[in-house]
Amino acid sequence: MKKMKLPKIPVRRAVLALAPYDAPEEGRAAKLRLDFNENTVGCSPAVLRALSRMTAEQMAIYPEYQATTKLLARFFRVRPEEMHLTNGIDDALHLIMDTFVDDGDSVLVAEPTFDMYRFFAELAGARVIALHYDAEMKFPVANVLREVRKSSRQSSRRIPRVLFIANPNNPTGTLVQPVDLRRILRAASRTLVLVDEAYFDFSGLTILPWIRQYPNLLVARTFSKSAGLAALRLGCLFAKPEILAVMRRACTPYPVNTAALVAAEASIRDARFLRKYAREVLHSRTLLEKGLVRLGARIYPSHANFVLADFGPEAHRLVRALERKGILVRERKDFRRIGFMRISAGTRADTRRLLRAIEEIL
Ligand SMILES: Cc1ncc(COP(=O)(O)O)c(C=O)c1O
Repeated sequence: MKKMKLPKIPVRRAVLALAPYDAPEEGRAAKLRLDFNENTVGCSPAVLRALSRMTAEQMAIYPEYQATTKLLARFFRVRPEEMHLTNGIDDALHLIMDTFVDDGDSVLVAEPTFDMYRFFAELAGARVIALHYDAEMKFPVANVLREVRKSSRQSSRRIPRVLFIANPNNPTGTLVQPVDLRRILRAASRTLVLVDEAYFDFSGLTILPWIRQYPNLLVARTFSKSAGLAALRLGCLFAKPEILAVMRRACTPYPVNTAALVAAEASIRDARFLRKYAREVLHSRTLLEKGLVRLGARIYPSHANFVLADFGPEAHRLVRALERKGILVRERKDFRRIGFMRISAGTRADTRRLLRAIEEIL
């Protein structure tokens, strides 16, 4: 971590120990952005129209959530009290920590996964129990089960308060099957299990209806990916009403802004746009997987809008050379060896441009 000059005011130990998140660099707008799994065509035009109709009065009033919550709840087929709106899933992770995790408590993750799980756990001063995906990028189901069972025989703080599962997982693109999720939910009776379905629109697999069966289940969705609203920051958390009610006690009064609410309403009304974009991405993902294999990479079959590719020692040079051609992809160095790139699947035209560029470089 870069050495920084500290203020004279004492800073929390957890903050001083944090490894900074590798956030996207600035100035990405005109480039082909295949590095953060965003929508590459932008949101529905209906969203832009709805935003342009916003009034000065709407801007002046603090956000009101009831009407949008009702509408979105109907869209997701849950009751309004089973849903809570957040400032992106990131904010939901923060809220989970603020509500359930004290300094010194344990949090369970299987890595590599979405970096923000570890970030918010460490920020809360939690002890991170990190299990690992195997060389085939399979989720360590048996180890997770062992960990939550072992823990439930012990008392106190060794019981993981929260287990994070991204499904599909970022960056591996792999899925944990429902049968395994069920085993975990049953075994982890004293652990809150967050199943993060940020990429649901590309996997088609959800356990959202299970919130009625498992009081320890939280499901998260976002408007940042297929809906193309990453800039507006809107996430949805789903769980039994008792869980969400206690989380609301720890929540700021206005976590989501009115523009995000207006955009979300317009977005779900244009379901055709969402379906069409998701379909395009699935075609593009197949093209990307085949193309990468043809170019010599090892890939891991993906259920999300990105593909993890192992280019071995070429990866670093490739990422830099693509950047010079205006194409951004993400180098992942967290596999305890080098060579991995995570590449988003946008449209088929995006994928063709990327594959052509890789071919030229190699
Ligand atoms: C698994 C996963 N969850 C959540 C997010 C972030 O979602 P949001 O933009 O709603 O904060 C990402 C973003 O890359 C992700 O990969």
